[in-house]
Amino acid sequence: MQQGASFQKLLHTFAALADLGQEIADTRDFEEKMRAALHLIQGSLGIMRGALAVFDSETQSLKFIAARGMNDLAQSDLALSSQEVSDLLSLGICALTKDDESRAFVNFKNGRKDLLDSLRVDLIVPMVVRGSPVGVILLGGKATGEEFATEDREVVCAMARHIGVGIHEHRLFEELQQRADENHQLYDEMRVIYRDTVRAFAAAIDSKDKYTQGHSQRVGKFSEIIAREMGWSDEEVEGIAVAGYLHDIGKLVVERDIINAPYRINAKESVELNRHPSIGYEILSPINHPYADIPLAARYHHERVDGRGYPDGLTGEEIPLVAKIVCVADSFDAMTTDRPYKKRRALEEVVDDFRRNSGKQFAPEVVIPFCRALFKELNGETANRRIVKLLGKDYVEQERIAPLLQALIEDLESGAITATAGNA
Ligand SMILES: [Fe+2]
Repeated sequence: MQQGASFQKLLHTFAALADLGQEIADTRDFEEKMRAALHLIQGSLGIMRGALAVFDSETQSLKFIAARGMNDLAQSDLALSSQEVSDLLSLGICALTKDDESRAFVNFKNGRKDLLDSLRVDLIVPMVVRGSPVGVILLGGKATGEEFATEDREVVCAMARHIGVGIHEHRLFEELQQRADENHQLYDEMRVIYRDTVRAFAAAIDSKDKYTQGHSQRVGKFSEIIAREMGWSDEEVEGIAVAGYLHDIGKLVVERDIINAPYRINAKESVELNRHPSIGYEILSPINHPYADIPLAARYHHERVDGRGYPDGLTGEEIPLVAKIVCVADSFDAMTTDRPYKKRRALEEVVDDFRRNSGKQFAPEVVIPFCRALFKELNGETANRRIVKLLGKDYVEQERIAPLLQALIEDLESGAITATAGNA
């Protein structure tokens, strides 16, 4: 008979443990889980009063987050001295009665005598996981008035182990979450710093050339518009904008007099000026950019698809797309702004230049989206007329330009303009 009762109890304990496992693994709110776990312990042993606290290592205190029959304890904190924390640690997971006389427990108990007496605590269960205190469970007596048997204490300890692991996992998850949040914040800050640095560099590059104020910034914006029209992702668009901002960074090393020459420069000066793409590449390539192709844009933005560009004389597919985009944006800005030795050209002429030089200087796969973006603006298809704003409204004669753009797009798409590297 006695054996049968123990067996029943064991079965009951296993069932309670299985329930507890499910409670802990549940994805519900952490505190709700802890309340459910405490109720299960109390329910499985017929205990009316109980409370559960988690240990907060930052404030060195026990925070009561669940209580049943000891309700004035819920949401309250219990500060611990470092001695008390180490006492708790030395206890490990066990179920102690208030009569337990082990040294560590006596120390802990003495400091809390009034509280433990007023709550009529019969069992104290410290929870320690991997050498760290994670919490404490306080339990009152059994509803039947019986003493706690050894098996009862074992049941409580087994359940406390489960709960302790649950608290530990929750803590790890929270730490990870916090670290992820911090990383995210740090990343955002670095992006802002990077963007500001890029802008500062662009301003430094442009200030060296007194005739082309804002050139780098405009090339960045035109490049961005082309990439957006080509369906690039937000990060790629941001990357090409930076490539545009920095494409002439090598000019920082070229003599100011050559850059600002109010005449067409001679061959020797031209050689000096033409070093700026390679120098730009050298400046940019050691930097770990969020968009890897930025140094390539600097190096190859003066290449031509017919192979007659510099510094390497690459042709067609050999030229990185990022450089082809910056090349079109750069040339467009050069043609549409006043230079020391010539006034800007009429937009009609610029479109004609694109027609004559697509497949020679410019890559048709870049000219098409740029013309399409401008056409959409002139045709009222986009709310934000970014290119028109950069050029100035008066300069863009909508009625004349829109049909030219449309015809050019059609001719390029149909292959009517077939000039390529081979037959240029
Ligand atoms: Fe350049």
